[in-house]
Amino acid sequence: MPTDKIIIQNLSLQYADGTESLRDITINIPANAVTVLFGPAGGGKSSLLRCLNRLNDLTEVRSVTGQILIDGEDILDPKTDVIALRRRVGMVFARPVVLPLTIRGNLTYGLELAGERRKSRLEEAVERGLKLAALWDEVKDRLDDPAIALSGGQQQRLCLARVLANQPEIILLDEPTSGLDPISTGKVEVALQELKKQYTIVLVPHSIQQAARTADYAAFFLQGSLIEVGEGKELFTNPKVKRTEDYVEGRFG
Ligand SMILES: Nc1ncnc2c1ncn2[C@@H]1O[C@H](COP(=O)(O)OP(=O)(O)OP(=O)(O)O)[C@@H](O)[C@H]1O
Ligand SMILES: [Mg+2]
Repeated sequence: MPTDKIIIQNLSLQYADGTESLRDITINIPANAVTVLFGPAGGGKSSLLRCLNRLNDLTEVRSVTGQILIDGEDILDPKTDVIALRRRVGMVFARPVVLPLTIRGNLTYGLELAGERRKSRLEEAVERGLKLAALWDEVKDRLDDPAIALSGGQQQRLCLARVLANQPEIILLDEPTSGLDPISTGKVEVALQELKKQYTIVLVPHSIQQAARTADYAAFFLQGSLIEVGEGKELFTNPKVKRTEDYVEGRFG
């Protein structure tokens, strides 16, 4: 049995306007695997990702109830060190937002903020992050160029590399390839297969095809409820719940 890195129990989330975005969600997320959260728009996928690093603290939330245990510790506890949590739980968004710095600067920024001054450590982090994000070969000779000069697909991998440079334990990816061409998308997907050896990965895919390609485990969300969860292969070929089957087979409407 895989080890569960994250255990979510009876999680419900209501935004200030009364929208109930997550309803009594219970799910375990194993370490060293890609867990995919999929389903139609508005299902609560991004809301759930944002709970995992407490980004919802920054939005208008009326109530969050239930538990989210990471390595056995409830991160919804008000005493949680949120800055430390966000270092452990890195996030990559749909639209890459590179910092107005060099390629190298994008990777060292977080570490420098955290007080790292040793040049060797910073260089190591740059190389490690870029290699893990499958970007190293394309940029190793131009690390001092502005990051904004990279293509969209390269910027997205740079954002992933920046998260990785901070050595998180968990990586949250919210439609990280939605703006990318198939080749860049393929590179990110290949990188994920490598990354899961070291990290816990939670991915909201941009398509059902990507979900099926990448998922070790998959969870189907519909209007704030978790409808079905299981091993990726099983869930996409042999779903148990009719609503999952309809969605997976494109009969949803
Ligand atoms: N900051 C917010 N304030 C109020 N309501 C919100 C907020 N963020 C999301 N919602 C609502 O919560 C519900 C779930 O939204 P969420 O973004 O989590 O869905 P999603 O599954 O990620 O959808 P998509 O596939 O479109 O990205 C929606 O009804 C949405 O309108
Ligand atoms: Mg979303």
